[in-house]
Amino acid sequence: MPGIIVIGLQWGDEGKGKIVDLLSAHAAHIVRSQGGNNAGHTIITADHEVALHLIPSGILHSHTHTYIAGGCLVDPHVLIEEIEKMEAAGIDLINRLHLSPYAHLIFSFHRTLDQYYEKRKSNHAIGTTGRGIGPCASDRAARIGVRVAELMHPEIFAQKFQRLVEIKNAELEKIFGAAPLDARALCDEYLLLGDTLRPFVSDVEGRIQRALIQDETVLFEGAQGTLLDEIMGSFPYVTSTPTLASGVLAGSGIGPTMVDSVYGVLKAYTTRVGEGPLPTAVDADTFVEFSESKEFRETGTTTGRSRRIGWLDLVLARYAVACNGVDNLVLTKLDVLDQFEEIKVCVGYRLDGEHIDRPPPLSEDLARVEPIYETLPGWGVSTKEVNKIRGLPKNARQFIDLIEDFCDVPIAIVSIGPNREQTVMIDEEFM
Ligand code: GDP
Ligand code: IMO
Ligand code: MG
Repeated sequence: MPGIIVIGLQWGDEGKGKIVDLLSAHAAHIVRSQGGNNAGHTIITADHEVALHLIPSGILHSHTHTYIAGGCLVDPHVLIEEIEKMEAAGIDLINRLHLSPYAHLIFSFHRTLDQYYEKRKSNHAIGTTGRGIGPCASDRAARIGVRVAELMHPEIFAQKFQRLVEIKNAELEKIFGAAPLDARALCDEYLLLGDTLRPFVSDVEGRIQRALIQDETVLFEGAQGTLLDEIMGSFPYVTSTPTLASGVLAGSGIGPTMVDSVYGVLKAYTTRVGEGPLPTAVDADTFVEFSESKEFRETGTTTGRSRRIGWLDLVLARYAVACNGVDNLVLTKLDVLDQFEEIKVCVGYRLDGEHIDRPPPLSEDLARVEPIYETLPGWGVSTKEVNKIRGLPKNARQFIDLIEDFCDVPIAIVSIGPNREQTVMIDEEFM
Protein backbone atom coordinates (compact mmCIF):
# COMPACT_ATOMS: atom_id res chain seq x y z
CA MET A 1 0.00 0.00 0.00
CA PRO A 2 2.94 2.49 -0.12
CA GLY A 3 1.42 5.84 -1.18
CA ILE A 4 -2.14 6.51 0.00
CA ILE A 5 -4.02 9.78 -0.12
CA VAL A 6 -6.94 10.36 2.26
CA ILE A 7 -9.11 13.20 0.97
CA GLY A 8 -12.36 14.86 2.07
CA LEU A 9 -15.22 14.59 -0.43
CA GLN A 10 -17.55 17.26 0.96
CA TRP A 11 -17.04 20.65 2.65
CA GLY A 12 -14.45 19.41 5.15
CA ASP A 13 -14.92 17.82 8.59
CA GLU A 14 -15.78 14.43 7.10
CA GLY A 15 -13.79 12.70 9.84
CA LYS A 16 -10.43 12.58 8.02
CA GLY A 17 -8.50 12.93 11.28
CA LYS A 18 -10.03 9.82 12.82
CA ILE A 19 -9.37 7.79 9.65
CA VAL A 20 -5.78 8.99 9.23
CA ASP A 21 -5.07 8.22 12.89
CA LEU A 22 -6.48 4.75 12.39
CA LEU A 23 -4.58 3.98 9.18
CA SER A 24 -1.38 5.37 10.69
CA ALA A 25 -1.03 2.13 12.61
CA HIS A 26 0.05 0.69 9.22
CA ALA A 27 2.08 3.66 7.93
CA ALA A 28 5.61 4.87 8.55
CA HIS A 29 5.15 8.44 7.29
CA ILE A 30 2.18 10.80 7.54
CA VAL A 31 2.10 14.01 5.48
CA ARG A 32 0.03 17.20 5.55
CA SER A 33 0.57 19.24 2.39
CA GLN A 34 -2.51 21.44 2.10
CA GLY A 35 -4.10 24.41 3.83
CA GLY A 36 -3.09 25.60 7.25
CA ASN A 37 -4.62 25.93 10.67
CA ASN A 38 -8.03 26.52 9.13
CA ALA A 39 -8.15 22.71 9.37
CA GLY A 40 -9.23 21.05 12.58
CA HIS A 41 -8.93 17.29 12.98
CA THR A 42 -10.23 15.59 16.13
CA ILE A 43 -8.79 12.29 17.23
CA ILE A 44 -9.98 10.21 20.14
CA THR A 45 -8.01 7.37 21.69
CA ALA A 46 -8.22 5.64 25.04
CA ASP A 47 -5.76 8.20 26.48
CA HIS A 48 -6.28 11.36 24.45
CA GLU A 49 -8.81 13.60 22.78
CA VAL A 50 -6.72 15.83 20.56
CA ALA A 51 -7.62 18.61 18.13
CA LEU A 52 -4.87 19.04 15.55
CA HIS A 53 -4.64 21.96 13.15
CA LEU A 54 -1.22 21.59 11.55
CA ILE A 55 0.49 18.49 12.91
CA PRO A 56 -0.58 15.40 10.95
CA SER A 57 -3.09 13.09 12.61
CA GLY A 58 -0.65 10.16 12.62
CA ILE A 59 1.43 11.74 15.39
CA LEU A 60 -0.22 9.72 18.18
CA HIS A 61 1.42 6.51 16.94
CA SER A 62 4.94 6.61 18.33
CA HIS A 63 6.49 4.79 15.32
CA THR A 64 5.48 7.46 12.78
CA HIS A 65 7.37 10.29 11.12
CA THR A 66 5.09 13.24 10.39
CA TYR A 67 5.59 16.02 7.87
CA ILE A 68 4.25 19.51 7.25
CA ALA A 69 5.12 19.79 3.58
CA GLY A 70 5.67 22.76 1.29
CA GLY A 71 2.04 23.13 0.24
CA CYS A 72 1.03 24.12 3.77
CA LEU A 73 0.61 27.64 5.12
CA VAL A 74 2.16 27.75 8.56
CA ASP A 75 1.43 30.27 11.29
CA PRO A 76 4.52 29.96 13.52
CA HIS A 77 2.62 31.02 16.65
CA VAL A 78 0.04 28.29 16.09
CA LEU A 79 2.54 25.60 15.22
CA ILE A 80 4.65 26.30 18.30
CA GLU A 81 1.56 26.27 20.50
CA GLU A 82 0.53 22.94 19.00
CA ILE A 83 4.02 21.50 19.47
CA GLU A 84 4.03 22.61 23.11
CA LYS A 85 0.61 21.11 23.72
CA MET A 86 1.68 17.76 22.31
CA GLU A 87 4.92 17.74 24.27
CA ALA A 88 2.99 18.59 27.46
CA ALA A 89 0.82 15.54 26.73
CA GLY A 90 3.99 13.42 26.65
CA ILE A 91 4.18 13.06 22.87
CA ASP A 92 7.74 13.41 21.67
CA LEU A 93 8.14 15.40 18.46
CA ILE A 94 11.86 15.88 17.98
CA ASN A 95 12.94 13.78 14.97
CA ARG A 96 9.30 12.87 14.43
CA LEU A 97 7.86 16.16 13.20
CA HIS A 98 9.45 17.59 10.06
CA LEU A 99 8.72 21.04 8.64
CA SER A 100 9.37 21.91 5.01
CA PRO A 101 11.41 24.99 4.08
CA TYR A 102 8.98 25.49 1.18
CA ALA A 103 5.98 26.15 3.45
CA HIS A 104 4.77 29.77 3.38
CA LEU A 105 4.36 31.68 6.62
CA ILE A 106 1.15 33.19 7.94
CA PHE A 107 1.91 36.40 9.84
CA SER A 108 -0.32 38.32 12.25
CA PHE A 109 -1.19 40.87 9.54
CA HIS A 110 -2.55 38.07 7.35
CA ARG A 111 -5.02 37.31 10.13
CA THR A 112 -5.91 41.00 10.45
CA LEU A 113 -6.41 41.38 6.70
CA ASP A 114 -8.52 38.19 6.57
CA GLN A 115 -10.92 39.87 8.98
CA TYR A 116 -10.87 43.22 7.15
CA TYR A 117 -11.61 41.55 3.80
CA GLU A 118 -14.52 39.66 5.33
CA LYS A 119 -15.95 42.86 6.83
CA ARG A 120 -15.63 44.66 3.54
CA LYS A 121 -17.57 41.89 1.78
CA SER A 122 -20.34 42.37 4.38
CA ASN A 123 -23.28 40.15 3.35
CA HIS A 124 -21.17 38.38 0.71
CA ALA A 125 -18.61 37.32 3.32
CA ILE A 126 -17.21 33.81 2.90
CA GLY A 127 -17.31 32.98 6.59
CA THR A 128 -13.59 32.22 6.69
CA THR A 129 -11.94 30.79 9.77
CA GLY A 130 -10.12 34.14 10.19
CA ARG A 131 -6.77 32.36 10.29
CA GLY A 132 -5.14 34.46 7.53
CA ILE A 133 -5.34 31.74 4.87
CA GLY A 134 -6.60 33.89 1.97
CA PRO A 135 -4.15 36.79 2.47
CA CYS A 136 -1.19 34.41 2.90
CA ALA A 137 -2.12 32.38 -0.19
CA SER A 138 -2.51 35.66 -2.13
CA ASP A 139 1.01 36.69 -1.16
CA ARG A 140 2.29 33.28 -2.25
CA ALA A 141 0.59 33.73 -5.65
CA ALA A 142 1.87 37.32 -5.92
CA ARG A 143 5.37 36.04 -5.10
CA ILE A 144 5.83 38.38 -2.18
CA GLY A 145 5.19 35.76 0.52
CA VAL A 146 7.94 34.63 2.88
CA ARG A 147 8.67 30.99 3.63
CA VAL A 148 10.23 28.84 6.32
CA ALA A 149 13.36 28.72 4.10
CA GLU A 150 13.86 32.48 4.48
CA LEU A 151 13.03 32.37 8.18
CA MET A 152 15.98 30.03 8.66
CA HIS A 153 18.32 32.75 7.27
CA PRO A 154 17.82 35.85 9.45
CA GLU A 155 19.42 38.38 7.08
CA ILE A 156 17.48 37.26 4.05
CA PHE A 157 14.32 37.02 6.15
CA ALA A 158 14.74 40.56 7.50
CA GLN A 159 15.01 42.02 3.98
CA LYS A 160 12.06 40.14 2.52
CA PHE A 161 9.91 40.63 5.60
CA GLN A 162 10.63 44.38 5.59
CA ARG A 163 9.48 44.62 1.95
CA LEU A 164 6.35 42.63 2.67
CA VAL A 165 5.46 44.82 5.65
CA GLU A 166 5.90 47.94 3.51
CA ILE A 167 3.29 46.62 1.08
CA LYS A 168 0.97 45.60 3.92
CA ASN A 169 1.34 48.95 5.66
CA ALA A 170 0.30 50.77 2.49
CA GLU A 171 -2.80 48.58 2.34
CA LEU A 172 -3.56 48.79 6.06
CA GLU A 173 -3.22 52.58 6.16
CA LYS A 174 -4.70 53.63 2.81
CA ILE A 175 -7.51 51.13 2.43
CA PHE A 176 -8.46 50.27 5.99
CA GLY A 177 -7.30 53.39 7.87
CA ALA A 178 -5.39 51.22 10.34
CA ALA A 179 -2.14 52.05 12.13
CA PRO A 180 1.05 50.90 10.34
CA LEU A 181 3.01 47.94 11.65
CA ASP A 182 6.43 48.20 13.25
CA ALA A 183 8.41 46.05 10.81
CA ARG A 184 11.53 45.77 12.97
CA ALA A 185 9.71 44.67 16.14
CA LEU A 186 7.65 42.14 14.19
CA CYS A 187 10.74 40.85 12.40
CA ASP A 188 12.50 40.24 15.72
CA GLU A 189 9.42 38.46 17.07
CA TYR A 190 9.31 36.09 14.08
CA LEU A 191 13.05 35.44 14.11
CA LEU A 192 12.70 34.22 17.69
CA LEU A 193 9.88 31.91 16.66
CA GLY A 194 12.08 30.74 13.81
CA ASP A 195 14.73 29.68 16.31
CA THR A 196 12.15 27.58 18.14
CA LEU A 197 11.14 25.92 14.88
CA ARG A 198 14.67 25.39 13.56
CA PRO A 199 15.12 21.84 15.00
CA PHE A 200 12.05 20.70 13.07
CA VAL A 201 13.05 22.06 9.65
CA SER A 202 14.46 19.55 7.19
CA ASP A 203 14.30 18.30 3.61
CA VAL A 204 10.71 17.10 3.91
CA GLU A 205 10.06 16.62 0.21
CA GLY A 206 13.30 14.63 -0.23
CA ARG A 207 12.37 12.40 2.71
CA ILE A 208 8.91 11.72 1.26
CA GLN A 209 10.30 11.00 -2.19
CA ARG A 210 12.90 8.59 -0.76
CA ALA A 211 10.35 6.82 1.45
CA LEU A 212 8.11 6.15 -1.56
CA ILE A 213 11.00 4.91 -3.68
CA GLN A 214 11.99 2.55 -0.85
CA ASP A 215 8.40 1.23 -0.71
CA GLU A 216 7.71 2.53 2.78
CA THR A 217 4.09 3.38 3.46
CA VAL A 218 3.32 7.09 3.20
CA LEU A 219 -0.13 8.35 4.16
CA PHE A 220 -1.13 11.77 2.86
CA GLU A 221 -3.71 13.49 5.05
CA GLY A 222 -5.94 15.81 3.03
CA ALA A 223 -7.23 18.98 4.62
CA GLN A 224 -10.56 20.70 3.97
CA GLY A 225 -12.75 19.00 1.37
CA THR A 226 -13.30 18.84 -2.39
CA LEU A 227 -16.05 21.48 -2.44
CA LEU A 228 -13.73 23.95 -0.73
CA ASP A 229 -11.12 23.60 -3.50
CA GLU A 230 -10.04 26.95 -4.91
CA ILE A 231 -10.82 25.82 -8.48
CA MET A 232 -13.28 22.90 -8.45
CA GLY A 233 -15.11 23.88 -5.25
CA SER A 234 -18.22 26.02 -4.75
CA PHE A 235 -16.40 29.23 -5.69
CA PRO A 236 -16.24 31.86 -4.24
CA TYR A 237 -17.28 30.09 -1.00
CA VAL A 238 -14.07 28.07 -0.87
CA THR A 239 -10.67 28.21 0.73
CA SER A 240 -7.65 29.72 -1.05
CA THR A 241 -5.55 26.60 -1.54
CA PRO A 242 -5.98 23.32 -3.43
CA THR A 243 -7.91 20.64 -1.53
CA LEU A 244 -7.95 17.86 -4.15
CA ALA A 245 -5.76 14.77 -4.34
CA SER A 246 -3.80 16.54 -7.08
CA GLY A 247 -3.08 19.33 -4.59
CA VAL A 248 -1.75 16.79 -2.10
CA LEU A 249 0.79 15.73 -4.70
CA ALA A 250 1.73 19.29 -5.69
CA GLY A 251 2.09 20.30 -2.05
CA SER A 252 4.45 17.45 -1.20
CA GLY A 253 6.65 17.54 -4.27
CA ILE A 254 5.69 14.20 -5.76
CA GLY A 255 4.05 13.05 -8.97
CA PRO A 256 0.86 11.05 -9.58
CA THR A 257 2.70 7.85 -10.45
CA MET A 258 4.09 7.70 -6.91
CA VAL A 259 0.80 7.01 -5.15
CA ASP A 260 -1.21 3.83 -5.28
CA SER A 261 -4.60 4.75 -3.97
CA VAL A 262 -6.94 7.63 -3.14
CA TYR A 263 -9.34 7.11 -0.23
CA GLY A 264 -12.27 9.53 -0.31
CA VAL A 265 -13.84 10.24 3.08
CA LEU A 266 -17.60 10.75 2.84
CA LYS A 267 -19.79 11.59 5.81
CA ALA A 268 -23.20 9.82 5.81
CA TYR A 269 -24.81 13.26 5.62
CA THR A 270 -23.46 16.69 4.66
CA THR A 271 -22.14 19.55 6.77
CA ARG A 272 -20.89 23.01 6.02
CA VAL A 273 -19.31 25.60 8.24
CA GLY A 274 -19.06 29.11 6.81
CA GLU A 275 -21.22 30.64 4.08
CA GLY A 276 -22.26 29.34 0.66
CA PRO A 277 -24.90 27.05 -0.80
CA LEU A 278 -25.87 23.73 0.80
CA PRO A 279 -28.48 22.20 -1.55
CA THR A 280 -29.66 19.43 0.81
CA ALA A 281 -29.91 21.62 3.95
CA VAL A 282 -32.40 20.15 6.41
CA ASP A 283 -35.26 22.05 8.06
CA ALA A 284 -35.06 23.16 11.68
CA ASP A 285 -36.94 20.10 13.05
CA THR A 286 -34.69 17.62 11.23
CA PHE A 287 -31.65 19.57 12.43
CA VAL A 288 -32.84 19.03 16.01
CA GLU A 289 -33.22 15.31 15.30
CA PHE A 290 -29.64 15.17 13.99
CA SER A 291 -28.20 17.06 16.90
CA GLU A 292 -29.99 14.83 19.40
CA SER A 293 -27.59 12.05 18.53
CA LYS A 294 -25.16 11.80 21.45
CA GLU A 295 -22.19 11.46 19.13
CA PHE A 296 -23.26 14.18 16.67
CA ARG A 297 -20.03 16.21 17.17
CA GLU A 298 -20.76 18.95 14.66
CA THR A 299 -19.25 21.96 16.33
CA GLY A 300 -16.26 23.26 14.37
CA THR A 301 -12.92 21.96 15.69
CA THR A 302 -11.19 25.21 14.69
CA THR A 303 -13.65 28.03 15.30
CA GLY A 304 -16.29 26.43 17.55
CA ARG A 305 -19.00 27.44 15.05
CA SER A 306 -22.00 25.13 14.55
CA ARG A 307 -21.89 23.31 11.27
CA ARG A 308 -24.94 23.48 8.99
CA ILE A 309 -26.46 20.09 8.23
CA GLY A 310 -27.84 18.54 5.06
CA TRP A 311 -28.78 15.07 3.83
CA LEU A 312 -26.18 13.07 1.91
CA ASP A 313 -25.73 14.60 -1.55
CA LEU A 314 -24.62 11.95 -4.02
CA VAL A 315 -24.47 14.42 -6.90
CA LEU A 316 -21.65 16.17 -5.07
CA ALA A 317 -20.13 12.90 -3.87
CA ARG A 318 -19.88 11.49 -7.39
CA TYR A 319 -18.41 14.77 -8.64
CA ALA A 320 -15.84 14.66 -5.82
CA VAL A 321 -14.95 11.03 -6.55
CA ALA A 322 -14.23 12.05 -10.16
CA CYS A 323 -12.24 15.19 -9.27
CA ASN A 324 -9.94 13.17 -7.00
CA GLY A 325 -9.74 9.84 -8.82
CA VAL A 326 -11.03 8.14 -5.68
CA ASP A 327 -10.72 4.35 -5.79
CA ASN A 328 -12.01 3.55 -2.30
CA LEU A 329 -14.61 5.27 -0.16
CA VAL A 330 -14.57 5.66 3.61
CA LEU A 331 -18.08 6.23 4.95
CA THR A 332 -18.10 8.06 8.29
CA LYS A 333 -20.66 8.93 10.95
CA LEU A 334 -23.13 6.27 9.85
CA ASP A 335 -24.11 5.96 13.54
CA VAL A 336 -25.58 9.49 13.52
CA LEU A 337 -28.32 8.18 11.18
CA ASP A 338 -29.24 5.32 13.56
CA GLN A 339 -32.16 7.24 15.01
CA PHE A 340 -33.97 8.16 11.77
CA GLU A 341 -37.10 6.38 10.55
CA GLU A 342 -36.41 7.55 7.03
CA ILE A 343 -33.20 8.71 5.41
CA LYS A 344 -33.08 10.98 2.41
CA VAL A 345 -30.33 10.81 -0.18
CA CYS A 346 -30.01 13.34 -2.98
CA VAL A 347 -29.58 11.57 -6.35
CA GLY A 348 -30.05 14.49 -8.76
CA TYR A 349 -30.91 18.17 -9.04
CA ARG A 350 -33.58 20.07 -10.90
CA LEU A 351 -32.56 23.46 -12.23
CA ASP A 352 -35.06 25.56 -14.21
CA GLY A 353 -37.19 22.46 -14.73
CA GLU A 354 -34.29 20.40 -16.11
CA HIS A 355 -32.75 17.35 -14.45
CA ILE A 356 -29.00 17.74 -13.93
CA ASP A 357 -26.56 15.27 -12.42
CA ARG A 358 -23.51 17.47 -11.88
CA PRO A 359 -23.17 20.55 -9.66
CA PRO A 360 -23.51 23.78 -11.69
CA PRO A 361 -20.41 26.02 -11.69
CA LEU A 362 -22.27 29.17 -10.56
CA SER A 363 -22.81 29.33 -6.81
CA GLU A 364 -26.02 31.28 -7.53
CA ASP A 365 -27.28 28.20 -9.41
CA LEU A 366 -26.08 25.74 -6.76
CA ALA A 367 -28.02 27.82 -4.23
CA ARG A 368 -31.28 27.36 -6.12
CA VAL A 369 -31.11 23.75 -7.39
CA GLU A 370 -33.95 21.56 -6.16
CA PRO A 371 -32.58 18.27 -4.83
CA ILE A 372 -34.22 15.08 -6.08
CA TYR A 373 -34.32 12.65 -3.17
CA GLU A 374 -34.51 8.91 -2.85
CA THR A 375 -35.98 8.04 0.54
CA LEU A 376 -34.67 4.93 2.24
CA PRO A 377 -36.03 3.22 5.35
CA GLY A 378 -33.96 3.77 8.50
CA TRP A 379 -32.64 0.84 10.55
CA GLY A 380 -33.82 1.89 13.99
CA VAL A 381 -31.01 0.17 15.94
CA SER A 382 -27.62 1.30 17.13
CA THR A 383 -24.67 0.54 14.85
CA LYS A 384 -22.09 1.83 17.34
CA GLU A 385 -20.97 -1.62 18.47
CA VAL A 386 -20.90 -3.34 15.08
CA ASN A 387 -17.53 -4.75 14.05
CA LYS A 388 -18.21 -6.64 10.81
CA ILE A 389 -20.01 -5.58 7.65
CA ARG A 390 -22.40 -8.52 8.15
CA GLY A 391 -23.28 -7.08 11.57
CA LEU A 392 -24.73 -3.92 10.03
CA PRO A 393 -28.54 -3.85 9.78
CA LYS A 394 -29.99 -4.74 6.36
CA ASN A 395 -31.27 -1.20 5.77
CA ALA A 396 -27.87 0.27 6.57
CA ARG A 397 -26.35 -2.06 4.00
CA GLN A 398 -28.97 -0.86 1.49
CA PHE A 399 -27.81 2.71 2.18
CA ILE A 400 -24.20 1.62 1.61
CA ASP A 401 -25.12 -0.20 -1.62
CA LEU A 402 -26.82 2.92 -2.97
CA ILE A 403 -23.67 5.00 -2.36
CA GLU A 404 -21.39 2.40 -3.96
CA ASP A 405 -23.66 2.01 -7.00
CA PHE A 406 -24.12 5.73 -7.49
CA CYS A 407 -20.43 6.60 -7.14
CA ASP A 408 -19.24 3.38 -8.78
CA VAL A 409 -16.54 2.96 -6.13
CA PRO A 410 -16.40 0.42 -3.28
CA ILE A 411 -16.60 1.40 0.37
CA ALA A 412 -13.49 0.09 2.16
CA ILE A 413 -14.15 1.38 5.67
CA VAL A 414 -17.29 2.33 7.60
CA SER A 415 -16.96 4.49 10.71
CA ILE A 416 -19.65 4.19 13.35
CA GLY A 417 -18.34 6.37 16.15
CA PRO A 418 -15.46 8.73 16.94
CA ASN A 419 -13.29 6.10 18.67
CA ARG A 420 -10.72 3.98 16.89
CA GLU A 421 -12.49 0.71 17.61
CA GLN A 422 -15.79 2.02 16.22
CA THR A 423 -14.74 1.11 12.72
CA VAL A 424 -15.76 -1.63 10.31
CA MET A 425 -12.91 -2.58 7.97
CA ILE A 426 -14.27 -4.01 4.74
CA ASP A 427 -11.01 -3.85 2.82
CA GLU A 428 -8.86 -6.67 4.16
CA GLU A 429 -5.64 -4.71 3.58
CA PHE A 430 -6.15 -2.93 6.89
CA MET A 431 -7.33 -5.85 9.04
P1 GDP B 1 -11.90 16.28 9.88
O1 GDP B 1 -11.68 17.76 9.78
O2 GDP B 1 -12.32 15.69 8.58
O3 GDP B 1 -10.76 15.55 10.50
O4 GDP B 1 -13.15 16.11 10.86
P2 GDP B 1 -13.35 16.81 12.28
O5 GDP B 1 -12.45 16.13 13.26
O6 GDP B 1 -13.26 18.28 12.16
O7 GDP B 1 -14.88 16.49 12.56
C1 GDP B 1 -15.37 15.18 12.68
C2 GDP B 1 -15.98 15.00 14.07
O8 GDP B 1 -16.72 13.80 14.11
C3 GDP B 1 -14.92 14.85 15.16
O9 GDP B 1 -15.43 15.37 16.37
C4 GDP B 1 -14.73 13.34 15.27
O10 GDP B 1 -14.34 12.92 16.58
C5 GDP B 1 -16.11 12.84 14.98
N1 GDP B 1 -16.20 11.56 14.27
C6 GDP B 1 -15.32 11.04 13.36
N2 GDP B 1 -15.82 9.87 12.86
C7 GDP B 1 -17.02 9.67 13.47
C8 GDP B 1 -18.03 8.65 13.35
O11 GDP B 1 -17.95 7.71 12.58
N3 GDP B 1 -19.13 8.79 14.14
C9 GDP B 1 -19.28 9.84 14.99
N4 GDP B 1 -20.41 9.89 15.71
N5 GDP B 1 -18.34 10.80 15.13
C10 GDP B 1 -17.25 10.73 14.37
P1 IMO C 1 -10.86 20.42 7.85
O1 IMO C 1 -9.47 20.01 7.41
C1 IMO C 1 -14.43 22.82 7.25
C2 IMO C 1 -13.98 26.71 5.30
C3 IMO C 1 -14.32 27.89 6.19
C4 IMO C 1 -14.90 28.83 5.14
C5 IMO C 1 -14.01 28.56 3.93
C6 IMO C 1 -12.87 29.57 3.75
O2 IMO C 1 -11.06 20.46 9.30
O3 IMO C 1 -11.89 19.63 7.11
P2 IMO C 1 -10.57 29.90 5.09
O4 IMO C 1 -10.32 30.22 6.52
O5 IMO C 1 -9.98 28.62 4.63
O6 IMO C 1 -10.26 31.04 4.16
O7 IMO C 1 -12.19 29.73 5.00
O8 IMO C 1 -13.45 27.27 4.11
N1 IMO C 1 -12.96 25.76 5.84
C7 IMO C 1 -13.27 24.59 6.40
N2 IMO C 1 -14.47 24.03 6.68
N3 IMO C 1 -13.30 22.13 7.51
C8 IMO C 1 -12.09 22.66 7.22
O9 IMO C 1 -10.94 21.96 7.36
C9 IMO C 1 -12.03 23.97 6.66
N4 IMO C 1 -11.02 24.77 6.28
C10 IMO C 1 -11.61 25.87 5.76
O10 IMO C 1 -15.25 27.55 7.17
O11 IMO C 1 -16.20 28.43 4.80
MG1 MG D 1 -12.26 19.52 10.68
